[in-house]
Amino acid sequence: GSANQEDANGLTHRHPARLPSTSSQLGLATSDQLAAAGDGPEKVELKKTMGLVSGIALIVGTMIGSGIFISPGGVISSTGSIGLALVVWAGCGILAILGSLCYAELGTALTKSGGEYAYLYEAFGPIPAYLFAWLSVAVIKTSSLSIIMLAFGQYLSVVIYDGCGPPSSIPKMIAAAAILVIMGINCYSVKLATRVQNFFAFAKLAAIGLIIVGGIVKLIQGNIQHLGNGFEGTSNNVAGIALAFYDGLWAYDGWNNLNYATEELQNPTVNLPRAILIGLPLVMICYILVNISYLSVMSAAEIIASPAVAVTWADRVIGPAAIIIPISVAMSTFGAANGTAFTGGRLCFVAAREGHLMSILSMVHVKKYTPLPSMIFTACIAILMIIPGDISALIDFFSFTAWLFYGATFAALLVLRFRQPDLPRPYKVPIVIPIFMLLASLYLVIAPIVDSPKLEYLYATLFILAGLIFYVPFIHFKIHPKFIDKITTALQLLMEVSPTEYEPD
Ligand code: ARG
Repeated sequence: GSANQEDANGLTHRHPARLPSTSSQLGLATSDQLAAAGDGPEKVELKKTMGLVSGIALIVGTMIGSGIFISPGGVISSTGSIGLALVVWAGCGILAILGSLCYAELGTALTKSGGEYAYLYEAFGPIPAYLFAWLSVAVIKTSSLSIIMLAFGQYLSVVIYDGCGPPSSIPKMIAAAAILVIMGINCYSVKLATRVQNFFAFAKLAAIGLIIVGGIVKLIQGNIQHLGNGFEGTSNNVAGIALAFYDGLWAYDGWNNLNYATEELQNPTVNLPRAILIGLPLVMICYILVNISYLSVMSAAEIIASPAVAVTWADRVIGPAAIIIPISVAMSTFGAANGTAFTGGRLCFVAAREGHLMSILSMVHVKKYTPLPSMIFTACIAILMIIPGDISALIDFFSFTAWLFYGATFAALLVLRFRQPDLPRPYKVPIVIPIFMLLASLYLVIAPIVDSPKLEYLYATLFILAGLIFYVPFIHFKIHPKFIDKITTALQLLMEVSPTEYEPD
């Protein structure tokens, strides 16, 4: 149902707003479907404009962001040796590949928009889907944004404070300011957000390419002393290694993004698995080579100690030109944050139009067609997370929650195989893969709690419970106090937003 359609009594702008389809360029499928359906007899549909190459670009472009510039130290310190650290980087790549193959089956069989939300709904009903939407909006997207922006702050403050380290509050202040800028861009114009995205995509490829080439040169010159230690010092703590995976998997996160755009992909049965099998190994090779390149000039201990590894690397390898590295890393992270903020709005719409989130979150600005309320909401929570913000605690918080739902999604695939065996599945993944991924997700969610129980996991659980507490009165029993309508109307007038038109099915 769509409880959000009629509840804005006294609204000044009754005409439905529509989201422009440029959003699809950011990997957001079905924006037209979300918003359209209204204009005359011709139904607005997504065109199949993406070929194999754009599919690969979408995967690679959303995955490479901040992780490869901030995670290497965390992976080494949790594994204890560079040998195992490199194995973990490869293992994370393999998990991402197998995970996205499962998502390829789900995405081509259930083409309804909303990604995980739609799959969980189909397999397990409204409550898990609702919990996913709630946590995704309140925790997953917001913590992603704050991690990426903290990385931005760390790299940019190195530029400003050249050499000696900045006081620890500076990166946080830069991060908070940058979140506000990103919020402003995304509230102001979708076109601008897309331009920012495309422009900054070059920066990350340049940074990665430069680090790889520089590393190869150093290795040829014989700088292999740090690589010689191999597996010396390897940790034998099986549960602790899950934390190394958290750091590595953060860098690979975004592997499921093509899923949100399957409807725009030409010949998805062939191109979706192909794009995954080309794009993901490409990222994996880049990440391993970048790690080796770091190791060509830094010891494991130096990588762990450096707040911005790529800067230390640049000082040692390209000397006077070193400044281009932190600048391009900052640009890479800025672009990634912009895309993450933008995609965050998507789920808000899908869930709010089902009546699963506050209706205000599904509205868009009447003239600019930007998702103002959901952007402001995301930015506020992300800034709150920055205040105590320590990157690695936030990565744990993010990964715990994200893998809980990736795991649930693999379970959804298996449940649907048994319950709906005749559902047309244009691409069918070998059944051992989702079984393996389900077990891997269980390990990733449980092992860190066993190894080092942290408050972050408790917070995540509290968020889940809080979600359930809202669910019972407002969604299950459909209690709808009058004052909520009043608040919604007031906020609508303030922000000049209106619901998008949507025909419930
Ligand atoms: N892998 C990215 C990075 O290293 C983070 C991706 C965030 N997730 C997303 N779906 N945009 O920064």
